[in-house]
Amino acid sequence: MPAYAVLGAQWGDEGKGKIVDFLAKDARIVARFAGGNNAGHTVVNDQGKFSFHLIPCGVFWPQALNVIGNGVVLDPDVLLEEIDDLEARGIDISERIVVSERAHLIMPYHVMLDELAESARGDARIGTTGKGIGPAYADKAARTGVRAADLLDIEALIPRLQNILEYTNAVITKVYGGDALSFDYVFDKCRSWSERLAPYIGPAEKIVNQALADGDNVLLEGAQGVLLDLDHGTYPFVTSSNPTIGGASVGVGVSPTHIEGITGVFKAYTTRVGTGPLPTELTDATGETIRELAQEFGTTTGRPRRVGWFDAVAAKYSALINGYTSAVLTRLDVLDGFETVRICTHYITEDGAQTDDFPGGVAALGKVRPVFEEMPGWDRPTASVRRYEDLPEAARRYVDRIQELIGCPVDIISTGPHRDETVMVRAMMEV
Ligand code: IMP
Repeated sequence: MPAYAVLGAQWGDEGKGKIVDFLAKDARIVARFAGGNNAGHTVVNDQGKFSFHLIPCGVFWPQALNVIGNGVVLDPDVLLEEIDDLEARGIDISERIVVSERAHLIMPYHVMLDELAESARGDARIGTTGKGIGPAYADKAARTGVRAADLLDIEALIPRLQNILEYTNAVITKVYGGDALSFDYVFDKCRSWSERLAPYIGPAEKIVNQALADGDNVLLEGAQGVLLDLDHGTYPFVTSSNPTIGGASVGVGVSPTHIEGITGVFKAYTTRVGTGPLPTELTDATGETIRELAQEFGTTTGRPRRVGWFDAVAAKYSALINGYTSAVLTRLDVLDGFETVRICTHYITEDGAQTDDFPGGVAALGKVRPVFEEMPGWDRPTASVRRYEDLPEAARRYVDRIQELIGCPVDIISTGPHRDETVMVRAMMEV
């Protein structure tokens, strides 16, 4: 009865979409468990190039049911648009998508509050994606959220929504000086969502657990990454959910005992969008070269991503939190042609001590200096290589060193954006 989790192991944008699409061939269910449309998952396969923000990346395999778990915050407009776009491209998923009744909705005022709060933060802004994620999770924790199940009995929602709006409008107008939202506008939105979304809303936990009881493979699809985790990330420069392994269990409603494989997806270097410390950041021409070569611009916001060398201190911490049973290394091809490549193995702290501990406070993290190990690069390309033995030896040594530092085997190496540009070193799932 195995579930397998595929988790972002750095600051998000590691290329999880491609990996989930690749692995979903053998899955009965692909379930998103956290985050919302702040994520951007890109899939390139024989059917074309697709960018998803909400829809799980199992949609290209007809046997796979795609579940949006209770841990996700869902903007219904975005989901409906993605379903329509897929249909327009000849992929009908109407029978293959389930939204948990317990998933919270991103309401129009959440998007407004996200923008208002960011501008009020001034220089201390987080650099959020502006999609309403933080305010939606804040309402969930405050028990003033609206859930998918509420769309199934829209009349019962009226008094609660009136109450919520009264408070929220006071915050919008009196704290931030923004414009109040009318009840009619918000309720009409809920009514139209209710009409279109109702067929997809269901008991996701029951469905996923039934598949596990039947012995089917379930993929738990992560969004964002460990270092953006609300608890374990570089707080406050984090997202508002738990993209780590605990979030996978809570966010779909499966017992941790079902999770047989925990895969950390690492990029062969490091990127980050938004503000907050990034110890190995390259602000020089090398960073610019990597950004341009790899087209490191956000799928959701288009913002240029900050780029750095592989940070093994952060990676080891990521492995500590998630307990990986395997790793995936993506975008190795981006490093093709560099004379040398670097891995950060230690930090030097403000008081001059060398450490491989990842600091808990952002002030301390912002002051560390990275210590690099330099390794020979490779002049023969890894791009599009599909067999491990065809990788240049120096590239294999780079992979080996990363494997050694994070303490778990690299089972898949991605050498290009297309599904087929993948080196399978070792099978990760039982088939
Ligand atoms: P929020 O999730 O929109 O509130 O943004 C909080 C922080 O997480 C910001 O630094 C965002 O840039 C970052 N973030 C959120 N989602 C992603 C993602 O999918 N990839 C990379 N960074 C993300």
